[in-house]
Amino acid sequence: AVVSVKQALSGSIEAGDKVTVRGWVRTRRDSKAGLSFVNVTDGSCFDPIQAVAPATLANYDSEIKHLTAGAGVIVTGTLVPSQGKGQAFEIQADAVEVTGFVDDPETYPIQPKQHSMEFLREVAHLRPRTNLFGAVTRVRHTMMTAIHRHLTEQGFFWINTPIITTSDAEGAGDMFRLSTLDLANLPRTPDGKIDFRKDFFGREAFLTVSGQLNVEAYCLAMGKVYTFGPTFRAENSNTPRHLAEFWMVEPEIAFADLAANADCAEAFLKAIFKAVLEERPDDMAFFAERVQPDAVSRLEAFISQPFERIDYTEAVEILRKSGQKFEYPVAWGIDLQTEHERYLAEKHIGRPVVVMNYPEAIKAFYMRLNDDEKTVAAMDVLAPGIGEIIGGAQREERLDYLDRRMAQFGLDPMTYGWYRDLRRYGTVPHAGFGLGFERLLVYVCGLSNIRDAIPYPRAAGTAEF
Ligand code: 4AD
Ligand code: MG
Repeated sequence: AVVSVKQALSGSIEAGDKVTVRGWVRTRRDSKAGLSFVNVTDGSCFDPIQAVAPATLANYDSEIKHLTAGAGVIVTGTLVPSQGKGQAFEIQADAVEVTGFVDDPETYPIQPKQHSMEFLREVAHLRPRTNLFGAVTRVRHTMMTAIHRHLTEQGFFWINTPIITTSDAEGAGDMFRLSTLDLANLPRTPDGKIDFRKDFFGREAFLTVSGQLNVEAYCLAMGKVYTFGPTFRAENSNTPRHLAEFWMVEPEIAFADLAANADCAEAFLKAIFKAVLEERPDDMAFFAERVQPDAVSRLEAFISQPFERIDYTEAVEILRKSGQKFEYPVAWGIDLQTEHERYLAEKHIGRPVVVMNYPEAIKAFYMRLNDDEKTVAAMDVLAPGIGEIIGGAQREERLDYLDRRMAQFGLDPMTYGWYRDLRRYGTVPHAGFGLGFERLLVYVCGLSNIRDAIPYPRAAGTAEF
């Protein structure tokens, strides 16, 4: 039977059975006794399986002895308990079919040694063949499926929100514009502006920065919903934390206030980490050994402790009294910077913290104004080692307040007519949050750059592959 390396190594197949494993050569070693040991990976699990190829195989001299790292092979043989340490089974090969040799093995980019992350980014099409990227990719999958599973168990529906949009959900102004217009011959309005009404959609269109506004509409009909897909931000910040294209999961809950929202975010993060620990022990052991010594223990600690909750105003007080020299000076009204967030989560509190009720002037237009009229019901979840991973809020459900906030932000009520409708027709309190998926993956795997948490990173100046 054709089996995966994972199946072959797991003991789910009995020793003595004939199996076929298909994959790529990790290493080949020849023994003096006229045997070759060919390690094969197929991505299904961290470990490769060893195939023992005897010199009696018909293509032994012509092919097997020329196998190098990266070659494609189909190995058929008998699964036997392995004498080698660290592996339960190996394959006594009857046949090793070579589907593709590696042209010029000396220049094959993925050599059996440790490569720098910078180098591997230049070969993004081949880096999934390394131990590290295999592990990152499996953990990424486990986290994504855990998100869907957890939210489904909690009664959420997955809503697919558009990638092409005409509204700016975050008001941050870092959107990618979409256009089919001929740059050499742009249509103009009488006052000289580009006339986007002549473009494909009859108006200006962008790649979405967040599915939130759209998902709110479904929340106000279906109760508990989430959107999970790629989002785009033309942030020029060339940092290890920002991508131009990243995945965001955004749950939205009707009849929820900020405290219920924070509860939901806490349970959500813990469920993801629990799934990773349960389902990817081999990959996590690798990260702990090679990348981040406390990769496993810090997830365990994260799961076992309640998150702290503090108000923004209290956070500012803590930072001011900390005696720390921050690059960006602390004062009530500032947007907390990564250095502040990390100080709070790591040094002061030592576990994840939800900071709530931020100054209204620094937060998005849709956030609910608190009774003090100075703060909004916003929350950020900050974690040791990362800073902000989740941003969320209770939404402004009162039309008059929303209109005031929109005017303050200079937003056109016409563009947001449908969003206003949600407050005109049966408005209810509701709240939600957004998790930057790659930021979480960076944390789980202990990576130092977010460009290694997505198969094909897009950032300012980087869009190959
Ligand atoms: O805090 P943000 O901007 O919140 C929103 O977009 C809300 N609409 C979410 C909601 O309430 N439904 O972004 C949410 C998260 C951040 O906490 C961060 O983890 C991540 O998205 N994020 C990025 N991740 C990678 N690259 C970037 N350029 C990111 N910008 C934000
Ligand atoms: Mg934010």
